Amino acid sequence: MKITPVIRFLIAGACAALSAMPLAAASSPHEHLSLDAGWKFHLGDDWPDALHLENSGTGSGPASEKFSDSFWRAVNLPHDWAVELPFDWAADGSHGFKTLGVKYPTNSIAWYRRTFDLPKEDEGKRIWLTFDGVFRDATVWVNGWCVRHHEGGYYPFREDITEAMHYGGRNTITVRVDATKVEGWFYEGAGIYRHVWLDKTSPVAIAPDGIFVQSKFKNNMPQGSPAIEVEVHLLNAQTSAAKATVNCEIISPDGKSLKKFSASEKLKRNSQAAVQLEVKLSEPVLWSPEFPKLYQLVTTVSVAGHMVDQKETTFGIRTVGFNATNGFLLNGRHYELYGTCNHQDHAGVGAAMPDALLEFRVKKLKEFGCNAYRMSHNPPTPELLDACDRLGMLVVDESRLMGSDSANLKKWDDLIRRDRNHPSVAIWCIANEQFMVQDTPQAARVARTMQDYVKQLDPLRPVSYASPEDDVFRGINSVIEVRGWNYHYGPQMDRYHAAHPGQPNFGSEQASVVGTRGIYTNDHAAGYVAAYDVVWPGWTTTAESWWSFFADRPWLSGAFVWTGFDYRGEPTPYWWPCINSHFGILDTCGFPKDAFYYYQSWWTTNTVLHLAPHWNWPGRESQEILVQAFSNCKQVELFLNGVSQGRQVMKPNSKLAWQVKYAPGTLSAKGFDAADNIIAETKVETTGAAAQIQLTADRKLINADGQDVSVFTVSVADAQGRVVPVAQNKVNFSVAGPGRIIGVGNGDPSCHEPDVYVPTAPSHNVPVGQWRWAIGKIPKNGDAVPEYANDFDDSAWKPVSGGGPTIETADTSAIYRAHVQLTEADLKGEGAMICFSGCDDEGWYFVNGQFVGESHDWQAQPIFDVKKYLHVGDNVIAGGVYNGVAQGGLNPNVNVQIIGQVTTAPWSRSLFNGLAQVIVQATGDAGEIKLTATADALAPATANVQTKPGTPRPSVPSPAVP
Ligand code: GAL
Repeated sequence: MKITPVIRFLIAGACAALSAMPLAAASSPHEHLSLDAGWKFHLGDDWPDALHLENSGTGSGPASEKFSDSFWRAVNLPHDWAVELPFDWAADGSHGFKTLGVKYPTNSIAWYRRTFDLPKEDEGKRIWLTFDGVFRDATVWVNGWCVRHHEGGYYPFREDITEAMHYGGRNTITVRVDATKVEGWFYEGAGIYRHVWLDKTSPVAIAPDGIFVQSKFKNNMPQGSPAIEVEVHLLNAQTSAAKATVNCEIISPDGKSLKKFSASEKLKRNSQAAVQLEVKLSEPVLWSPEFPKLYQLVTTVSVAGHMVDQKETTFGIRTVGFNATNGFLLNGRHYELYGTCNHQDHAGVGAAMPDALLEFRVKKLKEFGCNAYRMSHNPPTPELLDACDRLGMLVVDESRLMGSDSANLKKWDDLIRRDRNHPSVAIWCIANEQFMVQDTPQAARVARTMQDYVKQLDPLRPVSYASPEDDVFRGINSVIEVRGWNYHYGPQMDRYHAAHPGQPNFGSEQASVVGTRGIYTNDHAAGYVAAYDVVWPGWTTTAESWWSFFADRPWLSGAFVWTGFDYRGEPTPYWWPCINSHFGILDTCGFPKDAFYYYQSWWTTNTVLHLAPHWNWPGRESQEILVQAFSNCKQVELFLNGVSQGRQVMKPNSKLAWQVKYAPGTLSAKGFDAADNIIAETKVETTGAAAQIQLTADRKLINADGQDVSVFTVSVADAQGRVVPVAQNKVNFSVAGPGRIIGVGNGDPSCHEPDVYVPTAPSHNVPVGQWRWAIGKIPKNGDAVPEYANDFDDSAWKPVSGGGPTIETADTSAIYRAHVQLTEADLKGEGAMICFSGCDDEGWYFVNGQFVGESHDWQAQPIFDVKKYLHVGDNVIAGGVYNGVAQGGLNPNVNVQIIGQVTTAPWSRSLFNGLAQVIVQATGDAGEIKLTATADALAPATANVQTKPGTPRPSVPSPAVP
């Protein structure tokens, strides 16, 4: 489709008065369909020839429509195959010691295939295929047409695949994913780890990511009535002009229709146009993390009185900005950023996080007062931004790489257009720590270009750079709107601020304190670090130090702690056997470490009183143990078995410590307010031996939609029900009802147990041999001729060692015959595939006289599912080959691949310091999911979750298996 840009500016035609009812939800011809379910997956670079560029529309190997993937593993997206791989001390530690990357070529390239039917009626629509993120490089074929090669694991990409479709027929999408190369220095996953969508639109439609809604207040101060400006990008893919009418309706957070306004635009043939509308909105309800109130904009496009598209866009009304003196401003006032940086992986599932797990994580962060999330160091998945909008979490939206080359700017452009309606997105960050270039004039120019790009596409949001520098005003720092501080806290910040009083600042990355949940002594061999907020790598500092410094300086705006959650990779300060980071306030499962209570004390208004460590120290009787209290009470008094250990005054933003001679029993504390009233009490007790398992689901009612999850906490308690904080029992899990386990974890940074248990099947090859050939006829219509039958006598034919280029110039076709011997055991397995290594040019294949398939691409390696045609003993394989230009034939090395019984090992996980996690996903049916946990010598536990029928996400159905 050739698009000629026509940019038009229109002010809203009519502003209707407030009406009581939202616009009737007439059904839009635009279908936005999930393509997450029903994929087939194969690990291994077994078809390198598929990347050839000679021919159009005839992909080879899995890229070919004819390829059989019947014995590939079934997977649903999002899917991360890196999480399935074993650990190896020789692998890349910064990526979590997974056997992925250049050293492990057989684990680093994988294939995905998805088939679906498209009705004949869809002909004439535009069909779009969107990947929200694939790690790392993806090549995409549609029906054998190579439609896209995309590099980079974090940016979305989209293709108009209208022309490659079979209307009224079967369609195949094939994706080759190459995760050999990394992008970051942390675990990044591998595969199609975000959602995939298929959109069907009318030829005149809203462009993808084609709506931008922003609320503008005078001087960016939320007073009076904001102007709601709407920009709608339209596409006309017709060969004739069209007059499009755009109707907009604003729906309030409580569901009332507030405004209707419209504009019209004449679209030339094969063109695009931007229509701009504006309306004033009185008494807006402002969005903030505390009150995340969301409006909807319903945009309807009609041509000749018929609706051609309709889209709902969620937006919020709020202002963001910076002031050099007051720091970050939300809705016109200083707003302290209680932020955390986070990577995108979680226990059990790696980078492939179901939407409900994203929501779970945002809620966990909010529990300790976090109000801002830095997407470090890459663009997020859109559903994470949805969760931040809904739950109230400001966002720093970050680019992966800096660059003003056309490819990078296109990605930056796509990202800004995709994310700019989210009220949560408060700051754009052009890059993180570009150590090698950040002070150069080149980097300054690139930064300015990326910043200007934001200002054109999204003028109301500030732009920053996460700078790992001291008091340095060169290169990027000298041109960037807001100076981000990665570390380097201290007087240099004051000096910088004094020298550059006009440039606002914020803490883009601070802390990097390390601690392991439930561990109170460093253990280099095991890879554990004491969680007392006392261990930090050289470039960082404790929570108490950095926060006390920032809390006194509003102009610094607050900061983002490295990190909210632990993540795989970067196993600082130790290396193998440690395989994940210890920076988190929460571990990889989201279980709180003691630092959680430090931040909760100073970042929330809750009354907090928490004691560390636990009180199970057999063998350390009478030895001194460091006890800490995390609290925001004015004073805290500590008791051991009722005997006071002293009362201490809590300085703001600090924590308290005692040395206590250990005796088993109860360590307790009382917290006092300024008037000396007891306002909080807490205790930790020496528990008895582990006796029983406990299971709790975070949500007891989830959607029966095949996507929703419930996150179960597994703990081990003593006979009195007290969680045993040192329990490390191995627990086994089984699930019944409409649910499946998709991952297990325990937060242990040195645990090498599997996070997932995937179905596996043994396989072996039986060679096909005794080849003979003769010039002969091709059964072009699939009808066997006698030469293909089992009883044909081929003894007079020429022997040939497994085929080869036997057709000479004078002939155009030949027949090959061979034998394979199979045993009873061979045929007991799940399947048998006949694998030809190539046929030059076209082939028709028979097994025991029965036609099994054909091939028409000389570079393809035809594979057919033939179990039903095989028997014990001697089997005859025959192939007819046609080569119009001669010198062709059947390639050598033909095998029958026997696939054994598919089995999945039972799910299990050891507890780490009393806790583990199981993530259970609804399979799609309504009913009761029952998770059972058992372990040696412990009473088992069962917990139930209900799945409720609802409206499942519209999706592309998988075709029925023949
Ligand atoms: C920072 C970097 C992060 C992480 C952190 C560890 O310099 O931006 O990605 O590596 O150090 O402390």
